[in-house]
Amino acid sequence: MFIKYALPVLAAAQVAFADCGSGNTIKIENQSDADGYANCKTLKGDVQISGTYNGDLQLSGVQQITGSLSCDGAANMTGFTASSLNSIGDSFKLSGLTTLTTLSFGSLNKVGMIEFAALPQLQSLDFTKGITQAGSVSITNTGLTSLNGISLDTVGGFDVTENRFLKTVNVNNLKNATSLINFAGNMDSLEIEFANLGTGQNMTFRNVSSVSLPSLEKLKGQLGFWGNKFTSFSAPNLTETSDLIFNDNSKLANISMPVLKTVNGGFQIARNDKVGSIDFPKLETVTGAIDFSGEFNEAHLDSLKLVRGDFNMQSTGNISCSPFQKMASGHDVIKGKYVCEEAKKNPTTRDGKSGSSTSTGSASATSTGAASAMDISSMPAMGLAAVFGALVQYAL
Ligand SMILES: *[C@@H]1O[C@H](CO)[C@@H](O)[C@H](O)[C@H]1NC(C)=O
Ligand SMILES: *[C@@H]1O[C@H](CO)[C@@H](O)[C@H](O)[C@H]1NC(C)=O
Ligand SMILES: *[C@@H]1O[C@H](CO)[C@@H](O)[C@H](O)[C@H]1NC(C)=O
Ligand SMILES: *[C@@H]1O[C@H](CO)[C@@H](O)[C@H](O)[C@H]1NC(C)=O
Ligand SMILES: *[C@@H]1O[C@H](CO)[C@@H](O)[C@H](O)[C@H]1NC(C)=O
Ligand SMILES: *[C@@H]1O[C@H](CO)[C@@H](O)[C@H](O)[C@H]1NC(C)=O
Ligand SMILES: *[C@@H]1O[C@H](CO)[C@@H](O)[C@H](O)[C@H]1NC(C)=O
Ligand SMILES: *[C@@H]1O[C@H](CO)[C@@H](O)[C@H](O)[C@H]1NC(C)=O
Repeated sequence: MFIKYALPVLAAAQVAFADCGSGNTIKIENQSDADGYANCKTLKGDVQISGTYNGDLQLSGVQQITGSLSCDGAANMTGFTASSLNSIGDSFKLSGLTTLTTLSFGSLNKVGMIEFAALPQLQSLDFTKGITQAGSVSITNTGLTSLNGISLDTVGGFDVTENRFLKTVNVNNLKNATSLINFAGNMDSLEIEFANLGTGQNMTFRNVSSVSLPSLEKLKGQLGFWGNKFTSFSAPNLTETSDLIFNDNSKLANISMPVLKTVNGGFQIARNDKVGSIDFPKLETVTGAIDFSGEFNEAHLDSLKLVRGDFNMQSTGNISCSPFQKMASGHDVIKGKYVCEEAKKNPTTRDGKSGSSTSTGSASATSTGAASAMDISSMPAMGLAAVFGALVQYAL
């Protein structure tokens, strides 16, 4: 009896003596290691869970971790619960926990950074209170079906890739993002809603079935859409963005940006075969190139005052080039190289790539004269190699 009781107390006393961490890394290999910190409200330093951890882990009593909380490669860890923990100063990093099914952090509210990778069995986050503050969030290759529990007000980067079961992302409270928001390779029917996001840096979307950005007014960086499955896209309040790209969205028929005024960079629409009509009624300034190619029959840019770069418009459809011809003559509006071709059999982008999925492009095409080139090949690093690496490494 005495021995049974005394051991944890002794352990706790030792830990208390060790100041609940003193900036050094706290290593946890088993449940009794964790129990040793039950009297610590604050753990000072980083907490590292061993990759050999087996079964469920409870981190009780602890309310704050000043450093990071991490666990890498604990393939036999099935659950992790820390019900009192409300803040993690640095990163909360879990990777390669391939049998983890429960992640229960009922009080967690504030995290320096979230980095979850290769958690294929984790289907939901049991974050009852909800994380409202995180410097950045990166979630890749998990079994998550939603990101409920992540209810950010502001965020730096938000990177969500290769989560094959992710159906919805709804970050209602988010008003401001200060770094890249990126979605790629998740479930094809993923629906994304940022109902209140007003400003952001860069936003890139691949392979999603809907994106709702009703409040978005201004982006400092680029807004890009590749390979998405939505039929229409609307940004009713967006006035200004950097590079703007719609590429390879096979079902997209309608792009509505009724108040878009300024594109601080290039503007490309290519290989969106279902787009029949292009109309940006308030667009005045494009500091890079305009590069529209496809199968559309109408193109209207009635407010256009300045295109610093090239103008390339090519369509299989019956567009009227004459308004653009006027803008190009004397370089009044269009400063760069001007190309406008209607009823073109193989419409191409400025750099000679096919402009519709039925055309072939021409490898020999040259591109010159861009004031600010938009290089599609240097689109944001997706970390795909890393992601696929992770998939291979942790394949079930
Ligand atoms: C737990 O791990 C520590 C090392 O961190 C070790 O000293 C201790 O014996 C282990 N306890 C059990 C019950 O395995
Ligand atoms: C997980 O458990 C299995 C079976 O007990 C063992 O062979 C394997 O080494 C363990 N893996 C880790 C990372 O602890
Ligand atoms: C967004 O957040 C950044 C960094 O905190 C801040 O500088 C900027 O003013 C915010 N923008 C808005 C519109 O709140
Ligand atoms: C769009 O902008 C207008 C004017 O700035 C504002 O009144 C309105 O609330 C915005 N709409 C949304 C959905 O944010
Ligand atoms: C953000 O957008 C800018 C402007 O389009 C671009 O130059 C930059 O590479 C982008 N950064 C990221 C991380 O996507
Ligand atoms: C996702 O989009 C990319 C870019 O268009 C495309 O190459 C890829 O095939 C798509 N993946 C899926 C699974 O649809
Ligand atoms: C395109 O979408 C806008 C906004 O959702 C809508 O008002 C407009 O009627 C649509 N146009 C077509 C051709 O579907
Ligand atoms: C193209 O449009 C012009 C003017 O609207 C019209 O005269 C012509 O018949 C159209 N051609 C085709 C192939 O639709």
